[in-house]
Amino acid sequence: MENGKVDRKDELETILDGFARQANGLIPAFHAIQERFGYIPKEWLPEVARAFNLSQADVYGVLTFYHDFRLQPVGRHVVSVCRAEACQANGSAALIDRLRRKLGVDFGETTANNEVTLLPTYCFGNCACGPSMAIDGKLYGRVNAERAERLLRGMGVLE
Ligand code: FES
Repeated sequence: MENGKVDRKDELETILDGFARQANGLIPAFHAIQERFGYIPKEWLPEVARAFNLSQADVYGVLTFYHDFRLQPVGRHVVSVCRAEACQANGSAALIDRLRRKLGVDFGETTANNEVTLLPTYCFGNCACGPSMAIDGKLYGRVNAERAERLLRGMGVLE
């Protein structure tokens, strides 16, 4: 444990040890890695593949099949906005425009101060209450542009 990088690898091994013994443990392992580190570094895939006795292509295929997994580091807060059809029909375009403008970032980007990452989601299963968005995993329904701004102000990420 000479530096942070070694510590992270130790933690990765501990996570993998726990899940590799479980049937169907790969997806829970990805969730645990993302929860701990905020994303799943691509360079860790060989270790993940080894732990589960799978090919790197198989592991990568599972990882990229699910929109919830992130391959890039994120900011202190993650704002996810639904871009699927029902939310579009309920007016998510105005919400998305406002968030892009106020945060100064596009989907997949993080604000310069590293506070907020804006991510797209393709249905939270909250379609009847769209437009839907989540802040740090907490789901909000019927979010118009004004409400989204209020929520972000309440978190102190917008003035
Ligand atoms: S379409 Fe947005 S939550 Fe389902």
